[in-house]
Amino acid sequence: MDPFDYVRANQSRFLAELLDLLRIPSISTQPEHKPDVERAAAWLRDQLLAAGFPHADILPTAGHPVVYAEWLPAGPHAPTILIYGHYDVQPPDPLDEWRTPPFEPTIVGDDLFARGASDDKGQLYTHLKAIEAFQATAGAPPVNVKCIFEGEEEIGSPNLELFVRQHAELLAADVAVISDADILSKDLPSIVYALRGMAYVEVEVTGPDHDLHSGIYGGAVLNPNNALCAMIARLHDTPGHVAIPGFYDQVRDLDPDERAELARIPFDRAAWLREAGVETDWGEPDYTIVERATARPTLDVNGIWGGYTQPGAKTVLPGRACAKISMRLVPDQEPAQIVQMLRDYLAHIAPPAVTVQVRDLHSGRPAIVGRDSPAMQAARRAYAAVFGQEPVFVRSGGSIPVVATFQQVLGIETILMGFGLPDDRLHSPNEKFHLPNFYKGIETLIHFLRLLSV
Ligand code: BES
Ligand code: MN
Ligand code: MN
Repeated sequence: MDPFDYVRANQSRFLAELLDLLRIPSISTQPEHKPDVERAAAWLRDQLLAAGFPHADILPTAGHPVVYAEWLPAGPHAPTILIYGHYDVQPPDPLDEWRTPPFEPTIVGDDLFARGASDDKGQLYTHLKAIEAFQATAGAPPVNVKCIFEGEEEIGSPNLELFVRQHAELLAADVAVISDADILSKDLPSIVYALRGMAYVEVEVTGPDHDLHSGIYGGAVLNPNNALCAMIARLHDTPGHVAIPGFYDQVRDLDPDERAELARIPFDRAAWLREAGVETDWGEPDYTIVERATARPTLDVNGIWGGYTQPGAKTVLPGRACAKISMRLVPDQEPAQIVQMLRDYLAHIAPPAVTVQVRDLHSGRPAIVGRDSPAMQAARRAYAAVFGQEPVFVRSGGSIPVVATFQQVLGIETILMGFGLPDDRLHSPNEKFHLPNFYKGIETLIHFLRLLSV
């Protein structure tokens, strides 16, 4: 049997298996879900063995484990592909905005709704089923395959770089492939060639050593909430432009050719506004929306708190205020340097009446991958064969820290073969995966592995 026929014949079982994985609430950031994260890792190990991998193990890290499997049937002269995916998910909150429970996967029409359906369990699972299709029809995949599935991507992969360094020999490969991104639309595939990096910090502003009556002290003691807001207001000078001195020093400018190429990507502004739920866009006026959201660095306040936030009014001058701030970085910004610049700038603009602490939460480097490699050409042809349309090259504004780690530590490029859609609502309520893309993803990967083997 041909592997594509095998996929068609086994679609409903593949889907049933994916539902099992989606039922496991493997939320990496919440300690009470540690057993679930471990259950997801064990489930994947078992499925890798069932798909034909002769070896699959759960390898410990200082945090959640890595699932590693390898199958090297093609001999030392054939290429070796390193498949990465993550089996952890984001918390599902706000729960009351889900139309169906996040960990009770539900099919509505062609869509599968569940936390992790698209990011990244559904996409990760396409790889196992592509390998299984080879195992069932040809006995083995046409190339050597290694899998590394991580359980901490959604918390910034804090232990993965060390893991890759310590296992560099085990992970040695010719190219990596990751399905953890979206394509432009169900009829127009795309390949991501650049990802933004990330520097995530928590800022704490401390004033009086206890909360004060705002009538007795207000006006004569600096309120940390006021001070924090004033400082945050100085993090941008013009729309979308970050005011931290040095922030843009290492930013690689977009050359005119690349800008022209980005401008040719089909972009429906009205649909984009609708999906975002906004009436107008915002940001650096000299850059297009696509450039601002994928190729320019940003700074966002993700959360801000301090003082009284319960219902009703309480007159209080709080002792401290906090904010969580993330910065999306582009090549060649270095997260550690950027955090230091923010720290220096906040120290410089902080009023003497408060103290400011900046704590590093996590970081990851940005990455651009080469577009001319044989593996990239194989990916292009694989998408074209299944979607009937040549893929377009795009940048993505999201972050997958491991791409830079693979470049730096293993010296290999990554091919980002995503199968999500722009309206999958990653990290939001009602996340979904478009089921035709699940099966097309499996088929695309079968083509890809075959093209790599010749
Ligand atoms: N899969 C996403 C990243 C992504 C989204 C890439 C859309 C391309 C298109 C990934 O799981 C993610 O959410 N990454 C985090 C990384 C962070 C925690 C370091 C992100 O981008 O916020
Ligand atoms: Mn992801
Ligand atoms: Mn994610």
